[in-house]
Amino acid sequence: MPFLNISARYLESDLYKILPMEKHRFALQSLLSPAQVITEDIRSFGHDRMPRYISASNPMMVVLPQSTEEVQSILQYCTKHQLPLVPSGGRTGLSGGAVAAKGEIVLSLSKMNRIVDIDPVNQSVTCEAGVIQENLDQALEPYGATLPYTLGSKGSCQIGGNVSTNVGGLKYSEYGPLRNYVLGLEVVLGNGTVLDLNHKVHKNNAGVDLKQLFIGAEGILGIITQITLKYVNNDPHFHLFMLGTHSMDQAVESVLTLKRRRFTLKAVEFLSRNCLESVVGNIPSMKDPFLTPHNFYLLFQINARQHEEISVFDVCNDLLEQNLAQDCVFAQSTMERRLLWDLRENISESLNQRGAVHRNDLALPLSQLSDFVKALDTLIQKEYSPFQVYRYGHLGDGNIHLNILAPSNYAQERFEKRCDVLDERLFQLVHEFGGAISAEHGIGLLRKPYVSLTKSPEELSLLQQLKTIFDPHGILNPGKVI
Ligand code: LAC
Ligand code: ZN
Repeated sequence: MPFLNISARYLESDLYKILPMEKHRFALQSLLSPAQVITEDIRSFGHDRMPRYISASNPMMVVLPQSTEEVQSILQYCTKHQLPLVPSGGRTGLSGGAVAAKGEIVLSLSKMNRIVDIDPVNQSVTCEAGVIQENLDQALEPYGATLPYTLGSKGSCQIGGNVSTNVGGLKYSEYGPLRNYVLGLEVVLGNGTVLDLNHKVHKNNAGVDLKQLFIGAEGILGIITQITLKYVNNDPHFHLFMLGTHSMDQAVESVLTLKRRRFTLKAVEFLSRNCLESVVGNIPSMKDPFLTPHNFYLLFQINARQHEEISVFDVCNDLLEQNLAQDCVFAQSTMERRLLWDLRENISESLNQRGAVHRNDLALPLSQLSDFVKALDTLIQKEYSPFQVYRYGHLGDGNIHLNILAPSNYAQERFEKRCDVLDERLFQLVHEFGGAISAEHGIGLLRKPYVSLTKSPEELSLLQQLKTIFDPHGILNPGKVI
């Protein structure tokens, strides 16, 4: 006599028709374990850090696989039952890419957080998707190494999410996109097929590189479960200084001057005066390093081992003499270096504390940056009242974060609608200057209505076909990107 299989009987019973959620919970619990499927207190799993999606969060349940095999079983089950599924990392994104607002199952990778291998000869690290960025960076420290990127959200964002969104961040000027450091990936497709593209080899030109399709795909083509990254040497020798300038135009000109002098710019960040005030006013222990206020600030991190013949101090003097900058502070200790970087890294968090901020993430070809900034100034003056505009970003990469805050008595829904109208004008302007409507934050839900500004109908149609191949039942992160 075979054992009576209670779970199978349960699944076939009428109860399923009455309580489908219960059926799925029960089935997924038997595939994993009871503690790995949760249905209570899960709202925080259904949104990222973009305020407009917080109230929309409505996941059906959260599954917490601990291995690739478990991810595979979940996907096979979801495919069979046509259940939409949202892959979820640290949910620190700003474009709604991790939102579950329609009763989707959230597949959180947070329990897949093992560092599998650090290979100091190959200079590579292999880890599961749920490893937190800061933890991985700390694990590399004893090897004199570091990741080729860092983000303000490093304490909670996860490597899988970082690769899925091809993040930029604060080292981009020096190292370029994360994509360039991904040696290998393991991916589970919509139907549960596991693709092992997880090689450690640095030089691999054996035809079409399929793994590239999953980098920056925001989880619509497959779920990244394991990653092998190339890491870089930690370089403690650099100069860090901040300039105070009158205008964005001056800021852009200063960057170009340093580039013409052939300095290696490891980082070039900028922030407007109100961003600095927001950090100083909202984050304890932060203070203004300048004696007088300036409209814009530029933070430069520059390689210290080059150009022995022209000191970086002389170049800064030149910038002051040419009136491209009005003031300059050099960090002379670890503490001062930390303070200058904290001023920059805490902007996003300090704005969050001020209210529901609307965020933009634009990039321009550097050759268009000055003219774009002038046109942007005109647009802001004409259209953005009564909102406050906070500008900061990665100027060296032509990447501007334009952040909008409404007066405190302005209704949230009205604000969001108005921002959508403003975004349309803004993106049109970006398009005219040959720029990108998302430099590093992805498309998600937020920029999906404008995706045709960055991709042709032919490109979009091919993407749609790819989606059908990799995720035939359309269960993966539905409604995002395309
Ligand atoms: C930053 C994030 C918001 O640059 O991209 O702070
Ligand atoms: Zn950024």
